[in-house]
Amino acid sequence: MSDVNSESQRNTEGTPLGFHSLREEARTELPVEGTLPEWLDGALIRNGPGAFGLDDAEVDHWFDGLAMLYRFGFGGDSNTITYRNRFLRTDAYTRALTGQPEGGFATGESTLRERIVGALIRDPYDNTNVITERIGDRYLAFTETPRWVEFDPDTLSTERHVQYEKSGPSGQIACAHMKRDPATGTLINLETEFGRPSQYHVYELLAPTERRSIASVPVERPSYLHSFALTPNYVVITEFPFDVNPLSFFKPGRQGPFIDNFQWRPDEGTRFLVIDRDSGDVVAEPVSDPCFGFHHVNAFERTVEGATELVLDLETVPNPDGIGSLALSELRSGELGEQAGTLTRFSITDPRGQTSIDRIELFDGGTSLPTVSAAQWLDQHRYVYAQGTDQPMTEWPRRVLKIDVEDGSHQEFTRPGTQFGEPLFVPRSDEESVDGDSATDDGVVLTVGLNHDDARSRLYVLDGQTMREQAVATLPHAVPFDFHGRYFPELA
Ligand SMILES: [Fe+2]
Repeated sequence: MSDVNSESQRNTEGTPLGFHSLREEARTELPVEGTLPEWLDGALIRNGPGAFGLDDAEVDHWFDGLAMLYRFGFGGDSNTITYRNRFLRTDAYTRALTGQPEGGFATGESTLRERIVGALIRDPYDNTNVITERIGDRYLAFTETPRWVEFDPDTLSTERHVQYEKSGPSGQIACAHMKRDPATGTLINLETEFGRPSQYHVYELLAPTERRSIASVPVERPSYLHSFALTPNYVVITEFPFDVNPLSFFKPGRQGPFIDNFQWRPDEGTRFLVIDRDSGDVVAEPVSDPCFGFHHVNAFERTVEGATELVLDLETVPNPDGIGSLALSELRSGELGEQAGTLTRFSITDPRGQTSIDRIELFDGGTSLPTVSAAQWLDQHRYVYAQGTDQPMTEWPRRVLKIDVEDGSHQEFTRPGTQFGEPLFVPRSDEESVDGDSATDDGVVLTVGLNHDDARSRLYVLDGQTMREQAVATLPHAVPFDFHGRYFPELA
């Protein structure tokens, strides 16, 4: 089996394939080995950094790579997969074409000051490489700014920028991960406005540019927020103690890349702002031990001994030190040594009374990019899917995990020489499907694995119950490790 530093894993320039620049845009039918379920007739659209520059000039950090979309279309009973990949034609892409790639996260050209103050005089950064979502009948790509890019979900061609007309509360940076409320079908998001005072604005998206304000919460030192938690009645903002003094960037002078402005202040602990979705009031602010994290996996409400309990599953790390290890130079060196994520459950009891908070680890191995079935969002889930890594993380994940959070057991899938991206569970959707059962694992898990032995990525379709390979399709190239996908059942 090859390892992360072997020659077979590098392209002709010596760059590891997981972090090389894929400049080829392909459109093809993929031969399928095995059998696809007949009910699987939608499309998986993934998003991630496809290239780190379009010539010799490159960004510094994995998070700053140019947005590339990947579409896997399933044909129902035809047992074929259509595949295409395309860059989003963003302003960031145009800059990269001219040899001036810019990064919005950790590449030196883009300061927090420019991001905040500059947003008033120029369009916000638009390298929307994190995830895609459907709003109504429109499909958009997102990053951590409130400027989105609409694309055609069939051809992946870039359509237009979408930006909220600022007639109401809005901020200069946004969470990349919105949360969809299955009860209404609408998306809810969070933006941070830097100013006097700085505020978190929580809103519901009624259309791409139409919002309903849920809450505006003043904050002295805004935290870095990649996602948040949503339950049927509450929005919970997890304020990791990795925050910024907003006054610092109103002073002139260079302050370095966006993320370098945030300071780790562990003495503050991790504060959970529990916001009532109806009134917009902060009803509780419990504090737990200091930690950091990017991803809220899922959250739900339940009643325990007559008291309301909010349950939040997050992937946490002890501190934000790992952000630096995701710099391209570090990743390409193959010398990872950072703490892997830990699947962590926070339980907030009695948020309107004698509030208390409890924290437990749900799984003792390293995880990355954890997900739950979209059918269980805001509901009590049993299974979490994630990339599996050693702890500490010495190499990119080689395992696909299915974790049973009720009994702590897990199943895993591996393939020789292969490292995996985010797994997504797609629930079975035919007359045999089970509706509303949190224990159901009847469906498939979709995940892209990069095989270093033949320098090709493959889409794996795993049986959700056994985690065994049900079908696999080989792509025409090696896909750099990406971020997040969405399965859209309505796209045939
Ligand atoms: Fe993310």
